[in-house]
Amino acid sequence: MKTKNILLLGSGGREHALAWKLAQSPRLQKLYVAPGNAGTCEVATNVPLSVNDFPAIRQFVLQEGIDMVVVGPEDPLVKGIYDYFKADPELKSVPVIGPSRQGAMLEGSKDFAKGFMQRHCIPTARYQTFDGEHLEEGLRFLETLQPPYVLKADGLCAGKGVLILPTLEEAQKELREMLGGMFGTASSRVVIEEFLSGIECSVFVLTDGRDYKILPEAKDYKRIGEGDTGLNTGGMGSVSPVPFATPEWMRRVEERIIRPTVEGLASEELDYKGFIFFGLINTPSEDGIGNPKVIEYNCRMGDPETETVMLRLKSDLVDLLEGVATQTLGDRTVEFDPRPAVCVMLVSGGYPGHYEKGKAITLPSLTDAESVVFHAGTAVRDGQLVTNGGRVLSVSSYGDTLSSALSRSMEGAALIEFEGRHYRRDIGRDLMSLAPRHNMTECPEN
Ligand code: AMP
Ligand code: GLY
Repeated sequence: MKTKNILLLGSGGREHALAWKLAQSPRLQKLYVAPGNAGTCEVATNVPLSVNDFPAIRQFVLQEGIDMVVVGPEDPLVKGIYDYFKADPELKSVPVIGPSRQGAMLEGSKDFAKGFMQRHCIPTARYQTFDGEHLEEGLRFLETLQPPYVLKADGLCAGKGVLILPTLEEAQKELREMLGGMFGTASSRVVIEEFLSGIECSVFVLTDGRDYKILPEAKDYKRIGEGDTGLNTGGMGSVSPVPFATPEWMRRVEERIIRPTVEGLASEELDYKGFIFFGLINTPSEDGIGNPKVIEYNCRMGDPETETVMLRLKSDLVDLLEGVATQTLGDRTVEFDPRPAVCVMLVSGGYPGHYEKGKAITLPSLTDAESVVFHAGTAVRDGQLVTNGGRVLSVSSYGDTLSSALSRSMEGAALIEFEGRHYRRDIGRDLMSLAPRHNMTECPEN
């Protein structure tokens, strides 16, 4: 297979990081990003198409001779872009990197994901699912659990569908509201699950439906304030590697979670050729290694994890994606850069609440070759780079240690200016006291 022209769908920091990595491949002739942002157009050609406008994407793919479509966000996958291509005689030979609509249910329906994990004995929190007709049972089930209480809208809610409530009264009130339509049809069913406490880690895998490759793991920082305080955001930064993801821990993740997931997808005949994002939580184990459990699946890469994972992926991403498309992933190798990477996200004033767009951005070119700027919510208006979202830009840097990578990213962030700019100065700090993993220079076996 010779991939020359790639269309990448999406417009966030994740897509800029993917585009940056894809553009380094000698195999690539032309990269398009739809709709992209003011950063993706530095490494690719932006195309003004919506990620959910399948007929317009179809027309563009045929017109430009696109050889592969890489899907950044979950929405088009859950809406079935993979199946749309497969069902079209003119498109079916163009591989879509991402699962079928059924496979994307791992992210699109929390209840489906929990059932899948139960069927394949994959460790996760105990749970039950309720719909509006079973509200009373749901209220009673809450009484059997210990606080805090975890309620999850079954469907996609743009990251807002999970509530963690400290008291039974609040949990029962929220359950009533969710089943009463708080998130529309997305919360017509609600998963209630046991609260797990531990540190979270995002593990990423590429699969061709038979084989898989484990990519560098990462941790994201979701709260707006330093010390993990304040409201949840789309992500204020990320680090990779994660010190507690030792080779022994990763082996446990692979044996108990990754392999059963990939085999489970195959045994249930769920067509899945793309990224799997395992949102894990590390619970204590007697032997001290840790007991990873699945908090969530996503059918795409993480944002802002991709902004550090792509720095640490040494292998040619186009080559790996060709392996996915042709089911020859088992013949490819994945190499990691041993250096740690830290991403610091710059956000608009007021985010994640109300914020204004259109603020002029001063973006000097960074002289530090160990740092990369990825755009998220940016646009160019009348020749001026302006803010166009809550998460605006990020700086990702390599370092000899997490601490030096963070310092570099903060130096870069300090040079970027726009009115109301905010960033966290403590990304990865909680991990810096943990011992570095022993295999920093090796790749995990996969
Ligand atoms: P999700 O959308 O399922 O990833 O949930 C969003 C966030 O809620 C996760 O990243 C966790 O921080 C938290 N969370 C979800 N489920 C649980 C759980 N069972 N126990 C503790 N925290 C959870
Ligand atoms: N960083 C978490 C996510 O992408 O869902």
